[in-house]
Amino acid sequence: MSILKEIEKRKTFGIISHPDAGKTTLTEKLLLFGGAIQVAGAVKSNKIKRSATSDFMEIERQRGISVATSVMAFEYRGMKINILDTPGHQDFAEDTYRTLTAVDSVIVVIDVAKGVEIQTEKLVSVCRMRNTPIIVFINKLDREGKDGFDLIDEVEQKLGIKVRPLSWPIGMGQRFKGVYNLYEKKICLFNPHGKQTEEDTIEISDLSDERLDELVGEAAANELREEVNLIEEVYDTFDPEVYKKGEISPVFFGSALNNFGVKEMLDCFVEIAPNPLPRITEERIVDPEEDKFAGFVFKIHANMDPKHRDRIAFLRVCSGKFERNTNYLHVRQNRKMKFSNPTAFMASKKSVIDEAYPGDIVGLYDSGNFKIGDTVTAGEILHFKGIPSFSPEQFRYVTNADPMKSKQLAKGLEQLMDEGVAQLFTKELNNRKIIGTVGALQFEVIQYRLKNEYGASCTYEHLNLHKACWVSCDDPEELKAFRTRRKRDLALDKYGQLVFLAESAWAMKMVQDNFPKIQLHFKSEF
Ligand code: G4P
Repeated sequence: MSILKEIEKRKTFGIISHPDAGKTTLTEKLLLFGGAIQVAGAVKSNKIKRSATSDFMEIERQRGISVATSVMAFEYRGMKINILDTPGHQDFAEDTYRTLTAVDSVIVVIDVAKGVEIQTEKLVSVCRMRNTPIIVFINKLDREGKDGFDLIDEVEQKLGIKVRPLSWPIGMGQRFKGVYNLYEKKICLFNPHGKQTEEDTIEISDLSDERLDELVGEAAANELREEVNLIEEVYDTFDPEVYKKGEISPVFFGSALNNFGVKEMLDCFVEIAPNPLPRITEERIVDPEEDKFAGFVFKIHANMDPKHRDRIAFLRVCSGKFERNTNYLHVRQNRKMKFSNPTAFMASKKSVIDEAYPGDIVGLYDSGNFKIGDTVTAGEILHFKGIPSFSPEQFRYVTNADPMKSKQLAKGLEQLMDEGVAQLFTKELNNRKIIGTVGALQFEVIQYRLKNEYGASCTYEHLNLHKACWVSCDDPEELKAFRTRRKRDLALDKYGQLVFLAESAWAMKMVQDNFPKIQLHFKSEF
């Protein structure tokens, strides 16, 4: 098959949600449709539960599960669909941010009763930076929840996206009758006690059709007519091209647990979701159809078992064909590498593959050569962009607790940072090291892993910071003055980029007032 045909077959996406909205349940239903799994319950949630905070065996067990479920591929209607799993736990949000750099579109799951929650807001804001096309799935319609219109208003306001309903609920909770599929003009009747069958989907192209009253009752039918009228008046006709630009998000309603409304969304997804898209590098734009292979590492998963210190680097193929046992260039290290056991993931099964195409994710066994963001190519020097670090939210000074093991500590910290577990900043003033994370759990994970994998010990000292902001400035004089005046609050990240450690939002405002040419950024790429 030509490379173009392979690309046209592929869709690579991620599902994001606030924990408990139904991401795992939805993923499982999608895999069931694709025949990648046969029974419900086969996909284990990779949720790191709150109670696991000090139970490292539990973290380890769950990390084991999460490597198996990091990428799940399935075939549906002749397409190869790659789902990239994203940890729901907010302490692992940085991992999710980076996974989002490797997808071409996302599905956002929202709980009908809870509406838009904080974690969803954060994740969608990352998608919006890259104009990633978004489909919204409003879940748990079998329960009472918010009014449909209120909910989509909330989605537009809180997520800052424009939406277009493509299905609409008929009642909810006890009164939930089903959904009207505005895209295909069909009624799908909800059958709470059994499996959805073909007969439950009835084509009704004109809502004035009297069959509607028979199917859902007169009151519900009239309500639906009114609501759909309103939708058609208020919203433009759905245009898949506008969706592909990330400017409009179709909305579907359903119940993942009851496998209801999922197929409708999946059918629409395979039609409209983008195939592997071009990616930007510092040098040029890389098109998937190019002959030569290029890809980047977006996630590194370490084995926490000290007997097996290997890691798996997850590489997204961006162009050309990736082949097993072929010499490729590790651009940062400027050296050739061959991969004899590249791995692909089908549901929870791993298997060695001979080739992979744009959109595919390949697992590469790694003994410490890769960092997040590394580029691998057939020979060209390229650096993929759009894999930034984001400002952490929690900070601590890290100090060596065992003077005999300072080398081990330095090595351990460096490798853990390469894996993207947290970020390390070095203060300009006194070289003190600061670890920044998105969640408190990471501090414990780091301490545990340093001890178990590197034999190093560290202690932490609390540091009250609001944000770490990357600094840029076109005026060398002003930058010099800023560096002198704010020396106490400056640090370097692991790439040597200048970072302002802001104690408060006020401190950032002061910088903006006193140094108008200094720009502060919440991510390392700008
Ligand atoms: P997550 O990955 O987004 O964190 O959510 P997950 O799928 O684990 O779902 C969270 C809870 O919501 C689960 O219940 C799940 O069964 C339930 N759920 C998912 N979809 C629906 C739905 O459409 N309707 C209803 N009523 N519930 C739904 P749990 O009790 O926390 O877990 P479990 O014991 O059922 O696994």
